[in-house]
Amino acid sequence: MLKNLKLKNFRSFSDFEIDFSENINSIIGPNWKWKTNILEAINLICNNTSEQVWLENMVKNDFSVFFVRWIFEDENWLEQEISVSYSLDTKKKQISINKKAITSKKLDELGEKSIYFSPIIMNLFYMWPSKRRDFLDNILWACFPIYRDSLKKYENVVKSRNKILKNIWEWNSNKDEIIFWDNKMIELREIIYKYRNIFIDYTENGIKNFSEYFLGKIENVEFKYITKTDFNDIKWSIKNYLDKNLDRDIILKKTQIWPHIDDFDIIVDNKSLIEFASRWEIKSIIIWLKLLELDFIKEKTSKKPILLIDDFFSELDNKHIELLSFKIANYQTIISTINDLEFLNSRKTFLN
Ligand SMILES: Nc1ncnc2c1ncn2[C@@H]1O[C@H](COP(=O)(O)OP(=O)(O)OP(=O)(O)O)[C@@H](O)[C@H]1O
Ligand SMILES: [Mg+2]
Repeated sequence: MLKNLKLKNFRSFSDFEIDFSENINSIIGPNWKWKTNILEAINLICNNTSEQVWLENMVKNDFSVFFVRWIFEDENWLEQEISVSYSLDTKKKQISINKKAITSKKLDELGEKSIYFSPIIMNLFYMWPSKRRDFLDNILWACFPIYRDSLKKYENVVKSRNKILKNIWEWNSNKDEIIFWDNKMIELREIIYKYRNIFIDYTENGIKNFSEYFLGKIENVEFKYITKTDFNDIKWSIKNYLDKNLDRDIILKKTQIWPHIDDFDIIVDNKSLIEFASRWEIKSIIIWLKLLELDFIKEKTSKKPILLIDDFFSELDNKHIELLSFKIANYQTIISTINDLEFLNSRKTFLN
């Protein structure tokens, strides 16, 4: 559990320290102050984002270095101190655990996990497919370091393949040179799909435990992964696709296939959520997905994630708040809200 957080020249903070309890913590404050900044600082080392984190924006304006320190208490009540500093001058991040320097990779292994609930996630099904892939990637990154490595390597392989495509177009390379990169792509995509499949299987089973979150209004939910790849024979289907489209790729000087063009949809009582859902259905499904993420990360990492709930309750009706509150009661939870104590008091039975 997170016991204490210290921030120096981080976002809007000059020097700030805050203690947390092991249950539910509420951060109440007006708009545009510091609430999200605190949750963002906690999330910084919980390492479940595949999206680019712009550390330079986190340094307080007119300063050149930020420092964040977290004190965690492990299951044996032993304290672990983790700190991260980032310098705008050197563009370097320094991480240490109990005052000893460690690498980002080591932090990935040791770091805590968090589940971030923000109002933005409510728009997941109105956003570009890339946002839905980020959702999947974030979950898998948090659980499997090899997934993160493979995605990074894959991006580099695609860049190299694109260079060869350009060279072939300009008559500087032979078509055969592409085979090496095609094989590398296939190898990495097999790994990426192996892990995506673990999550797909998990969601298919997961629905059985979550029907209560739909309040009896939704009977059948299916997670539909959208891809051009044939999961029964990944190697063959990618190779076939790459071979068939090589001439097009050469003209475009760009590889048009990667897991990055996949998407997913949720089929609710035989209707696509992306195309047909009501706002209420979307909210219910998002809660379902976030709780699935929570259970998945907990199961695969054997760590109990911290729940960061950033102004999320304002999106929900009382029934959903009630359902979510029962679930979060077992976790260390940090809630930010602009609503005053009256809001929390009105839900005292759930938030105590
Ligand atoms: N690098 C930075 N240096 C100084 N101030 C910053 C920096 N980054 C963000 N801020 C300031 O932090 C404030 C926003 O903080 P935050 O997003 O935590 O607000 P909030 O309390 O969550 O607000 P809301 O309720 O509107 O979501 C803004 O005033 C912004 O200008
Ligand atoms: Mg905010």
